[in-house]
Amino acid sequence: MNNTSKLFELAKSARQNAHAPYSNFPVGVAILSKEGHFYSGCNVENISYPCGSCAETGAIAAMVAGGDKQITEILVLAEGSELITPCGACRQRIKEFSTPQTLIHLANASGVQKTCTIAELLPLAFAEKDLIK
Ligand code: THU
Repeated sequence: MNNTSKLFELAKSARQNAHAPYSNFPVGVAILSKEGHFYSGCNVENISYPCGSCAETGAIAAMVAGGDKQITEILVLAEGSELITPCGACRQRIKEFSTPQTLIHLANASGVQKTCTIAELLPLAFAEKDLIK
């Protein structure tokens, strides 16, 4: 199985475990880090709606807890007739651990529908250079 297929299977399995009773919109995310490790996450909602977290947040937290800081490939899996893309906040979260070469796969149950870069998803991003005084 190639890396993208493995990411798809991991995201699918994470999505099945999503806790999304309020939106009924389960999302699964899987990451392959530069070190060759795989991580996954799902969205976790809460009866107090703002306490919920996105699937990307969970997967990135798992990667950082696992000791890795660079994403080689990330796959976001959700269902919809339109192409599903990460929310604005998650684009910024992905950017923190991406390089210009990082592959961001956008998938639905049928498979990867589009692969893009962080520059395409988050042009003119707030970055380290902006903090230089
Ligand atoms: N969601 C994600 O997990 N990732 C995104 O990039 C977009 C939105 C979740 C949050 C919430 O649990 C549900 O999808 C509906 O917004």
